[in-house]
Amino acid sequence: MAGISDLQFRMLNRRFGCELAFSEMISARALSYQNSNTMKMLSQHPADRPLGIQLLGNDPTVMMKALDVLRDYSFDVLDLNAACPVSKVTKRGEGAALMKEPLKIFEVLKALVRHSGKPVTVKIRAGWDESSVNARDTALYAQDAGVSAVFIHGRTQSQGYSGTVDYGEIRRVKEALSIPVVASGDAFSGELIKKLFDETGCDGVAIARGALGNPWIFRQAAQYLKDGTLPPRPPVDELADTMITHLNFSVEADGDETGTTKFRKLFAWYVRGLHETRSIRAEAFGATSRKEMAGLINQLRATHYRPGFAEYKR
Ligand SMILES: Cc1cc2nc3c(=O)[nH]c(=O)nc-3n(C[C@H](O)[C@H](O)[C@H](O)COP(=O)(O)O)c2cc1C
Repeated sequence: MAGISDLQFRMLNRRFGCELAFSEMISARALSYQNSNTMKMLSQHPADRPLGIQLLGNDPTVMMKALDVLRDYSFDVLDLNAACPVSKVTKRGEGAALMKEPLKIFEVLKALVRHSGKPVTVKIRAGWDESSVNARDTALYAQDAGVSAVFIHGRTQSQGYSGTVDYGEIRRVKEALSIPVVASGDAFSGELIKKLFDETGCDGVAIARGALGNPWIFRQAAQYLKDGTLPPRPPVDELADTMITHLNFSVEADGDETGTTKFRKLFAWYVRGLHETRSIRAEAFGATSRKEMAGLINQLRATHYRPGFAEYKR
């Protein structure tokens, strides 16, 4: 997830069972210029594996330049983004705009397969809009180009991130392909993740928004898929410990002030579903140091860990 799945987020989620993680989408053009903010997205750690790097772009020549820069980095999978719905991206013909040009997807993927030396995957959507649902045909082009797997978000570009997930189109992709298909869309709980598997026959499920402030989703999903039971919500003590760990990762990576500022939105996600957090969230949005933020987290630990207190209502 752009703006979210940085090294710290990935490392935190791996502790809870995330098996394969992807970088945020990285513009191939910006990478080819070695733009400093873009290069930061390539921050690495040996434990952050297996790792997929996701590229955004539509021009094989530019993609090749990006691959040259990536030669100095260790990763396991190269993914093409043909799914981002944001207009800033699609008006350049990138992201989900590629759903309107399956031949272009084929051409770009073929170049990546030939030159990257890595397994190549692609992330697609159900289609551009309701009247042009074409994931099955697009996925077949991708398979012909030599990709190793297809990831599909079962919504169209025009749906953005709301509306219903088209389980039927994901199933049609799965039935048409001989390579693995990974489903995405509303993977918010063990039950919904099982539903994605059951209704589509997919080989894997990608977890996105379900992990915001909720790394426990990986364990929850694994347990639910195994025996149909759901683990209890983590106690507030464990929530607070996890928040502190994530805050520490953030500050180690970006320094005291920037790391703390970046953690603010994570704080809000972590406390979602806890009662009476309005004022502490407001305070967290003003925190500028690790010490201050950690103090608020410990305050949360003290005030919300009461016997009989209804802890969560996600
Ligand atoms: C803030 C945000 C950023 C995202 N960035 C990316 C991205 O960079 N690359 C990508 O393939 N998908 C991205 N996605 C899409 C998710 O990977 C996922 O396909 C989508 O949210 C549907 O799954 P969900 O309903 O379980 O969240 C992003 C989603 C959100 C909400």
